[in-house]
This record gives sequence, C-alpha cells and structure tokens, in this order.
Amino acid sequence: MPIRKFGEIEMELLREVLDSGQLSSLSGGKMTPRFEQEFAAMLGAKYGVAMNSAMSVLHACVKAAGAGAGDEVLCESFCVFATVATLYNNAIPVHVDIQRDTFNMDPDKIEEKITDRTKALIVTHVLGLPAEMDRIVEIAHKHGLVVIEDCAHSILAKYKGRCTGTWGDIGSFSFQMSKQLGLGDGGMAVTSDERLRDALALNAGAPTFYSVAQNLYYNYRMNEMTAAVGVGQLQRIHGYVKGLQENARLYDAAVEDCPWITTQRGPAEAEHTYHIWGARFHGQDVGIPRERFAEALKEAGCALSIGYTKMAAYQHPMIRERLGYGRGCPLDCPLYEGDLNQYPDGACPVVEEVMPNVLMANPFGPREKHEKNAAALRKAWQARTP
Ligand SMILES: Cc1ncc(COP(=O)(O)O)c(C=O)c1O
Repeated sequence: MPIRKFGEIEMELLREVLDSGQLSSLSGGKMTPRFEQEFAAMLGAKYGVAMNSAMSVLHACVKAAGAGAGDEVLCESFCVFATVATLYNNAIPVHVDIQRDTFNMDPDKIEEKITDRTKALIVTHVLGLPAEMDRIVEIAHKHGLVVIEDCAHSILAKYKGRCTGTWGDIGSFSFQMSKQLGLGDGGMAVTSDERLRDALALNAGAPTFYSVAQNLYYNYRMNEMTAAVGVGQLQRIHGYVKGLQENARLYDAAVEDCPWITTQRGPAEAEHTYHIWGARFHGQDVGIPRERFAEALKEAGCALSIGYTKMAAYQHPMIRERLGYGRGCPLDCPLYEGDLNQYPDGACPVVEEVMPNVLMANPFGPREKHEKNAAALRKAWQARTP
C-alpha cells in the first residue's frame, strides 16, 4: 500500500549522522555520498549528485550542458519546469509538442526545432510514463545536444528495461514531498559521465575557494539528515511504487470501456510508475462538454482533477508577460539571434488541445480510498454516456 513510512530504519541512520557530529558532507559527512552512490546504483547509473531540490538540479544540468545567454534549449511543452530551468540560465526555451496519448515529447517534432544555437534538450517523463528515449537520444546526440531527463515523476520507471534517468546524459530526480520518494525537499542528478558529474558537483558544494576558482556556482548542497532519510527510503521505494501501480490499475479498469476517456498510454515497453494516474477526456467527440463531465464527477463524489495547469508551458505569464528580471530579460536577450516571438497560441497545438482535458488522480494512499474513487469515476462517466 503506498503510504509513506518513516520509522526505525530512518531513525537509526539519522542517529548515525547526529552521533558523527558531521551534519554536512562539506565538513566530511559520509551520508550524502552514500545516498548518491546507492541511489545511482539502484537506477543503473555510475554517479549521483545530491542537491536541495530538483529545480536546483535542473538549473545545474542546463549549466553543465553549457547553455547560457543566446543559446536555445529544447523543452517539452507540458510541464513548465524545464522551461524555468532554461530561463534560470538566461537561455531561451524552445518548445517541442507532445504526443496526444503519452503526453510526452514527440520525437517526430524535435528535429524541426534544432538550430545552430541549440545546446541541450530536456525531456520530462510526464506523470511517470517514460518518453521514447531511444529515438529522442538518437536525434539529440546526432546534433550534439546534451540530453537531460526530468524524472521528477518517474522514479524506477523503465523504458525497454532501463530506468528513466539513465538514457540521456543526466537524469534529474525530485524528493519533494508529493513525489514518489519524499524527503521534505531534495533532488538528485544521476549520470555515468565523469565530466558531467564533476560539473554538477560544483553546484552541490559551492561557494568554496575551489568552486570560485572554476566559475560561478550555486550552493545547492543536500544536508546529511536529508540524505540519511533518503538512504532509509531506498529500502521502501520499490514497495511504494508497486502500490502506486496497483492503485493506478483501479482507475484504468474504471474507464477501460469508456469510449471518450483514453488512459495515458505509452510506447511499447514503457513501465509507468504513476506519480499521477492520467487520462485524456474527449467527450466533446460525442457531444459531452467537459463542464458537464466535471459536474458528474462532483455529483458522484469523485476526487479527480481536470486540466493540470490548463496551459502549455509557454502560455504561463512568466513567458507571456516577460516577467523574468522585470525588464524583458532573459527572453528578450540582446545576445539572442533567434525569433523572440516564438510563443504564440498554437505554437504546439497538441499540448494546447490535450492540457485542458487531462484527468488526473493521485494514486497515493490506501487501496480502499482508490477503490471508492475509481467506482465514483465509473459512475460519473456512465451517467454522462449519451
Ligand atoms: C516534472 C517536475 N520537474 C521538476 C520539479 C521541481 O521539483 P522540486 O520541487 O524538487 O524543485 C517538479 C515539481 O513539482 C516537477 O513536477
């Protein structure tokens, strides 16, 4: 059952940290390096670099990829986090549309967005479903791009038997409390490239005399107590994810014969780990407006959300109203030679169509709760079938 547990395992590890008197890896604490090593090994990567959040990791990833002012980074258009990390680095996000059924970056739409300014590509495994990483990596590497996987939703999700985060050059994970492995806050980069590991690690240790001798870096260090709880949670995460998958199946079953709700389905050989269960509502095809279905959900007592952020990544005010720095930068960067007006409505038509119609359930918690909720979902769609 996917209920988060913190118990004697974590207490013992925390005690070890406190007894050592070293509460930071910077002063010689051993728990953070241990967490890095065990987390990376669990996924099949060589190195882990722990930080204080996934946004810190993504910021550091874009920096490690060498993307800055005047450069472009390809971002998926569903979640906004890749876009934000790109802007943190003063680079320009260029959005790639999604596939209608997976909600993930469409490999067929990547190449047309690559220019001689493109430095990196950030792909998110949306809601926990792996993107088509073999094709994405092949296209990106053909053009010399660094591939960053945002795995904030997809811990232990596999594509063709390999964990997300190990297909590209760097994988980024979040330990924010809503995620599959919640530590309060925290993040981890994994990579098998020693040079990238070293570049990322500078942000997990700065500012030090060593880091300022190299460049401008950030202090994104994870502390030893967080790492201790993380090491403990590694013993629980497989069971937790299995519970999420079992609960998600209840929702799959509740809509399997509904002609106008299509579950988020992946490429063959993709194993979803359900940070969120998702589906696409298309009742409009048979004359059922979304608002009527929302009412039916309410009447049936079903806790399902509709529409996620309700907009594509490039439609958020941060971009639309040029809010960064309050002076137009970085989107109107004078060093940028590309199109500064590349975010009109319709730029990525599939995500704009899909986003308002995304149905989402959080499969965390006891099975009985989800049995009830899934039954309510079934009741709601059956009540609205013409
Ligand atoms: C896809 C994705 N990437 C990145 C993040 C950022 O994670 P954090 O809160 O650890 O910075 C989130 C958080 O919600 C997310 O959902």
